[in-house]
Amino acid sequence: MKPASPPPAYSTLPEGLVSLADHERHAERQLDRAVRAYLFGGAADEITLRANQTAWQQIELLPRVLRPLAGGHTRVPLLGREWAHPILVAPTAYQRLVHPHGEQATALAASALGAGLVLSTQASTRLEDVARIYLPEPSRGPLWFQLYLQPDRGFVRELVQRAETAGFEALVLTVDAPVQGARDQERRAQFSLPADISAVNLAGLTLPAGPPLQAGQSALFDGLMCHAPTWDDIGWLRSITRLPVLLKGLVHPDDARQAIDAGAQGLIVSNHGGRTLDTMPATARLLPAVVSATRGEVPVLVDGGIRRGTDVLKAMALGASAVMVGRPVLHGLANAGATGVAHVLRLLRDELEIAMALTGCRTLDQAANVIARD
Ligand code: FNR
Ligand code: LAC
Repeated sequence: MKPASPPPAYSTLPEGLVSLADHERHAERQLDRAVRAYLFGGAADEITLRANQTAWQQIELLPRVLRPLAGGHTRVPLLGREWAHPILVAPTAYQRLVHPHGEQATALAASALGAGLVLSTQASTRLEDVARIYLPEPSRGPLWFQLYLQPDRGFVRELVQRAETAGFEALVLTVDAPVQGARDQERRAQFSLPADISAVNLAGLTLPAGPPLQAGQSALFDGLMCHAPTWDDIGWLRSITRLPVLLKGLVHPDDARQAIDAGAQGLIVSNHGGRTLDTMPATARLLPAVVSATRGEVPVLVDGGIRRGTDVLKAMALGASAVMVGRPVLHGLANAGATGVAHVLRLLRDELEIAMALTGCRTLDQAANVIARD
């Protein structure tokens, strides 16, 4: 029998999908329960997961009328360059769980749509293969590599070197997940990775076996946390790379100041899409204080629950330099591979332009004036 050929990267888009919510509903029907629980679930009672979307929805827009709109655009400056629009793909692990072409399909779509791409340390595709697809597209956005610091710092140094050589333009150090959150859905569904999908960029990494735990010691604090990153590692990371370092998952204004003092060149306000610490506030509520603490010294990005062009506009109004989207990209990928991801990104961008026109914003730096403030 002939082996089954892999599905084409450009699948046909299912009919009737006109919003990111439509993509979500359709994707939920495509995937099995355990994969769904891993991809779309959150931590514990999923209060933060729900709050993220609700918070954007609850911010009200207050349009201005009759302002000149001709020649308007969505362009934004970020880390020294100008990009077509402020939407980036958030780093999400193991995209081949969702579609056989995984990260390669996402890269193809994101580069064509001018969206930035942040590749996860736990990607299921080699970082060089992603860069090779993404970088040649003239209309591409920024290409960044997300880093989880590993106990073996020599391994991290080599990984960073590989990312630099491949052409990645910044490092995004995720700081909100020294341990996985209590993911009830995932455990209930007994999710485990299939044998043919793994974090290929971490191949060869071994975890150090610490000294055996003494009676009364904690496997978390006396084991795993002995290797967790701390503020000192930011200086170390900066010393081993020429790339800008952004911190992702930072929400406290004091941490924002400390990050800038430690040399961070950008911050990403995130609660990991509600997957780590449940009952954290929604990112829409956390963003303004972080923006204010940074005093314009570094760009602040935000993710979590962004599902509409109006959400993007609201994030920009609250002082974000750009936004990232996580799950919606996975929904598009599940529905139609690269075509599905492209469609999700296109919808978001089109909705952003419509929202700008309807609120009287020719450019995104006018967004601050169009949200209702208490
Ligand atoms: C993530 N996220 C994430 N973050 C990160 O820094 N490294 C990673 O490997 C992953 N992996 C990951 C897998 C899956 C399945 C999800 C859903 C999320 C978090 C991600 O970057 C982002 O912060 C959130 O997904 C943003 O929220 P929305 O857009 O999904 O609501
Ligand atoms: C997650 C990890 C990989 O959210 O960041 O699943």
